[in-house]
Amino acid sequence: MEIVADELLRRIATKNRLKIWDAGCSTGAEPFTFAIILAERTTMEFMRGVQIFATDIDELQHFRPLIESGIYPYEQLKRIPGELFQKYFIKTNPSDNFQLIPQIHNAVKFYKHNLLSLDKIDYNFDLVICKNVLLHFTANERINVLKMFYQSLNPNGLLVMEQNQKIPVELESFFRQLTPQAQLFGKI
Ligand SMILES: C[S@@+](CC[C@H](N)C(=O)[O-])C[C@H]1O[C@@H](n2cnc3c(N)ncnc32)[C@H](O)[C@@H]1O
Repeated sequence: MEIVADELLRRIATKNRLKIWDAGCSTGAEPFTFAIILAERTTMEFMRGVQIFATDIDELQHFRPLIESGIYPYEQLKRIPGELFQKYFIKTNPSDNFQLIPQIHNAVKFYKHNLLSLDKIDYNFDLVICKNVLLHFTANERINVLKMFYQSLNPNGLLVMEQNQKIPVELESFFRQLTPQAQLFGKI
């Protein structure tokens, strides 16, 4: 995701607002991690202009409380390098939970959304993150969801997927892979 952040920041150049869609975000680890990666490369001032729309079909018992509170049990955070952990998390007493600092937490908003509805949640995204979700769909569903991402992205927009997830041949004129090191694609 570091490669993605670098390419994204290079593309937006002087723009001071970023709009990102993390589709199939699960518990929020992915959008918050990406927000931290961005914060490490920019400033807290810049982070005020970052909006990450984190969506998942499964909102209820699982993901919404975690993302909306930004509070996670230490067990789920212990792999975060110490320096980053101290910088971005605050202990919530009296439990063994930790809360993300507001500058990161406020960048991410959760919405329930079913990708297979093919409803766009918004337009003009600079980046769509969709990792480990499309593999659950049929070939046809993947094509339709990727077309929906294409329409949701701005002309200079980026799409990132997990390793091994390819752009179907039918959509080769929609997205171009930008580096062999990541499944990072630029909108054509
Ligand atoms: C394996 S998790 C991936 C989480 C995260 N993106 C990652 O890579 O760590 C797959 C996620 O896709 C979500 N998902 C499955 N079908 C979906 C759909 N039709 N619309 C939106 N999200 C869906 C699941 O609820 C789950 O949270």
